[in-house]
Amino acid sequence: MKILVLHGPNLNLLGTREPEVYGSMSLDDINNKVTELGKELGVEVKCLQSNHEGALIDALHDARTWANGVVFNPGAYTHTSIALRDAISAIQIPVVEVHMSNVYAREEFRHVSMISAVCKGKVVGFGWRSYTLGLRALLEIL
Ligand code: DQA
Repeated sequence: MKILVLHGPNLNLLGTREPEVYGSMSLDDINNKVTELGKELGVEVKCLQSNHEGALIDALHDARTWANGVVFNPGAYTHTSIALRDAISAIQIPVVEVHMSNVYAREEFRHVSMISAVCKGKVVGFGWRSYTLGLRALLEIL
């Protein structure tokens, strides 16, 4: 079993970016956590981050050829990107949406997700644990 963990814009700055909202762990720390959990659960995890919408779409298309599912934090593109929604609809593998912060306790524009309806489910508000919980949920449905 192979899983893509995909991170969207500005998540490369985790650790220094608004630590009061996103915590003090870096993206590498989070990738290590999900990779370790993957090992424990017997799955291969590949982690990718991009600040570019098109590159995220390419990564989703590519995942169709090798991954069994995707754990995806699209960052701010969550709230705006119909193109990402269409990419998720276009691929046959399950996608779990994750957010580190509780987007429903924040600005109203963060309450809207373009992608939730085409994802299997979502995990919101557990900090870096949103990723490990998302991976566990994805593996259970697989
Ligand atoms: C986020 C929430 C988004 O609203 C924000 O734009 C992000 C991170 C989260 O993980 O909490 O970049 O997806």
